[in-house]
Amino acid sequence: MNRPALIVLAVLALTGCGQGEASPQNAATRASPASTPARPAPTAADKAALLAALPAPYNAADLDNGRRAFARCRSCHTITEGGSNMTGPNLYGVFGRQAGAHPGFNYSTAMKEAAFVWDGARLDDWLENPRTFLKGTKMSFAGIPDPTDRRDVIAFLKVETGYTPPPQS
Ligand code: HEC
Repeated sequence: MNRPALIVLAVLALTGCGQGEASPQNAATRASPASTPARPAPTAADKAALLAALPAPYNAADLDNGRRAFARCRSCHTITEGGSNMTGPNLYGVFGRQAGAHPGFNYSTAMKEAAFVWDGARLDDWLENPRTFLKGTKMSFAGIPDPTDRRDVIAFLKVETGYTPPPQS
């Protein structure tokens, strides 16, 4: 093979490589607008494993019932990663987060000043009766009186909002 032909081949090969590297990046950029999760959604098996790893009583929860109970929250809350704030803040990552701390949401003064971090027990008290739990909150929701429905909706939220159980010791 003569020299110019080799150079052409080398250039072609380099161009090919460049495209090979660029396209997955382009695909990633295209695949992550605000409305879609940045990570692949957990499979049903991932969710079952996470449910089993939750601390009691949440490991005994019925996720389908939790999903049904969450229908009462959906008009005001999104739960996917990067989901928009609506009447209420997006709830992705809420466990382990300071109350009233989701970026870009205009909380009530009561919620902004609440000095605690959300965990299962706090959610349980909050969902039983938001107004008595936090006087001055602007979440207009009467509450979920049934403790089993609260357990199930909390487990559903843990499984759906990126919660990771603490490592077993
Ligand atoms: C009518 C709309 C509405 C409904 C229904 C509703 N919420 Fe809310 N939620 C809000 C608003 C508004 C806030 C902010 C409260 C504040 O700033 O005082 C909020 C705050 C929260 C917070 C605190 C978030 C944070 O970032 O600290 C949690 C957790 C929550 N809601 C869970 C739920 C769950 C679970 C349900 C269903 C069982 C529900 N909400 C139903 C409007 C709603």
